[in-house]
Amino acid sequence: MMRIDIITLFPEMFEGFLNHSIPHRAQKKGCVEMVLHNLRDYSTKKNRSVDDYPYGGGAGMVIGAEPIAACIEHLEKERTYNEKIFVTPDAPILDQPTANRWSLCENLLIFCGHYKGIDERARKLFFTREISIGNYVLSGGELAAAVLADAVIRLIPGVLNDETSALSDSFQDGLLSPPLYTRPEVFRDERVPEVLLSGHDEKIRQWRYEQAVEKTRRLKPELLAE
Ligand code: 6GU
Repeated sequence: MMRIDIITLFPEMFEGFLNHSIPHRAQKKGCVEMVLHNLRDYSTKKNRSVDDYPYGGGAGMVIGAEPIAACIEHLEKERTYNEKIFVTPDAPILDQPTANRWSLCENLLIFCGHYKGIDERARKLFFTREISIGNYVLSGGELAAAVLADAVIRLIPGVLNDETSALSDSFQDGLLSPPLYTRPEVFRDERVPEVLLSGHDEKIRQWRYEQAVEKTRRLKPELLAE
């Protein structure tokens, strides 16, 4: 079973995510255990603060190295992490091959940044990876950590069944998914493509592949180049 430790200033933000849909089912099935840690519990200040003003001045606050060290070193007494991941916008962007690799890990640690960022020394000392989820700025790392955890969890062997299989996902074979249709056969004058009603498995497979290639060329040509 995979274990994911998430360090955050806002553990409550993960409740909706942990308790619904596939991440919830994955936990119930015993495929993953997610453990939340409040960074403030590792503060040594009387007001439980974990941030301070930046040296050299400037706007915003910076999370100090000390509570980060205390929390991660505490957790590392109990287990060794395959990856200790800092989620931050100034990092390489998460992709499907990375999610695939991390889905096979035994222990992952995810640290959510906040305010202007974290002390550079902690960044260098305590993390093995840095990851962003896209080129835009969120208020904090929590949503990004939830995105990362979700992308990884659904790939853990045993989480998805045949119907929800990750093998047919967009990106999984380097192509976007082909268009999908369900009943009714005609909706607002538009018919379902005839081939999908033909019952001819080989023709359907071929059509879906052509559609996937065409759609990928149109929307994400960079995937075809790889
Ligand atoms: Cl990981 N954190 C924040 N705060 N914003 C982001 C992000 C992470 N990835 C994209 N935007």
